This record gives sequence, C-alpha cells and structure tokens, in this order.
Amino acid sequence: MRRKLVAGNWKMNKSFAEAEDLLNELYDALESKTSSNVDVVVCPPSIYLEMAVDFSETGIISVGAQDVSKYENGAYTGEISAQMLNSMQVEYCIVGHSERRKYHNETDADIAQKTNILLKHEITPIVCCGEVLDERESNNHFNVVKKQISDSLFHLDPLDFAKVIIAYEPVWAIGTGHTATPEQAQEMHAFIRQTVEEKYGKEIAKKLPILYGGSCNAKNAHDLFTQPDVDGGLIGGASLVAQDFVTIANAF
Ligand code: PGA
Repeated sequence: MRRKLVAGNWKMNKSFAEAEDLLNELYDALESKTSSNVDVVVCPPSIYLEMAVDFSETGIISVGAQDVSKYENGAYTGEISAQMLNSMQVEYCIVGHSERRKYHNETDADIAQKTNILLKHEITPIVCCGEVLDERESNNHFNVVKKQISDSLFHLDPLDFAKVIIAYEPVWAIGTGHTATPEQAQEMHAFIRQTVEEKYGKEIAKKLPILYGGSCNAKNAHDLFTQPDVDGGLIGGASLVAQDFVTIANAF
C-alpha cells in the first residue's frame, strides 16, 4: 500500500501566538482522530519551525519547511540550509512551489539542486509541479508537467528518486477556489505515475506518493483522495483552520 500524506502549507501567515494556537488545536484534534496510516505534516514559516518540532515530538504531527537554499552553507544572506533543517529535526521540505517559481524565478534546475541537497541531508522533498491556466486551455498541460518533473527529478538514481514525494498543483487552482475536479486530478496523477514508470520502472512508480494541491478543502478532499492515484494533499488556505485541516487529514 502507498503511503498517504496530508501536508499543510501555511505560506506567510500567522503571528507567533496564532501559530502556537493552531498547533495546539491541531494537536488536540489529531490526537484522537487521525488514522495511523496517514502522515500529517505542517509546513509553517521557518521562524516557527522550532515550535512546530516541539509539537512533533508527540509523533502526531511531522514538520516540513516551505523552502530550502540550493547551497550547502556560507554567505547567502536570508537563506536556510538543508543541514540546518536536518539539525532541527525537520523531516520534509516543499520544493518548487509555483509561488517560488513565480515570485522568486525558481527554475527546474534550481529545484533539482534543492532536491539533491535535501536528499543529501535526509529530508524528504515534496516537489511541486503544475500548469498555468493558458497551458491547460491550450491542451499543453501534460507536456508542461512532464518537462517539470523530468528536468527537476529524472537525474536522480532510483534509490534517491524513491525517497521523493510529488505534489501536482495546477496553478489555476491555487488559492482561487477553482479546485481541479477529481477526474482532472486523477488523469494527471495517472499520467505522472506513467511518466515515472517509463523512467524508473513499475515498482518505483507504484510506490510514489503523489499529492494533489489547489483549493483542496474539507468539502472536496474526500472525492479527491479516493481517486486511485491521489495519495493525499498539499493544503494551503484550509490548513490554517484546525478543524478543516483535521477533516482533510481524515478524508481518505
Ligand atoms: P490552496 O494552496 O490550498 O490555498 O489553494 C495550495 C498550495 O499552494 O499548496
């Protein structure tokens, strides 16, 4: 059986006190409610990682970062290294989110470097891909996603690739309320799995967790997560409300 995972991407939200409240609420609600075969991950702003890691010691929540430097260490003002994340017991890191691609000009080559450095420091990369609206409307979405995952991941040897999680996040669905339909999500997830199978073979493709992200919420999560190739979600807005996030974590 494939690993199931729900990750909350808090983006740049919450004061310290609000973050602490949300973690407390999540902890209380998840303690009694989550099935043991779903990994629940929170990805707060890096300034709150230490606090989130303290909560994660209970084993109920795991912690991920939202980004990492592509460099090992040194004179890179403002950056956070994979080594630092590892030394803080951070287990996951989102890479190549469309907001990083758009506002920070991140390329597939950057994402490849970030993935390498995370794997080197034993952090699980959650690598994002997804087309913009024009690309879907011009029926180019499969080519776009295939190129993103090939250029950012297919240099990995099979052992390393097997440690990666992919998140399919159609950019037109992120923060817009226009969720992909379960059929659209399934179609792309199956395509990603097929693409991976062609490169790495059936066994690795079968085990790859592929998350859906983009306006996934407490109402639509179940229909998305019960698609055969959807293994969970990367949740933005709805991860900021404890009850919604807990409902999503139980929506399989
Ligand atoms: P959203 O964001 O759930 O608010 O659409 C998802 C994401 O950006 O990871």
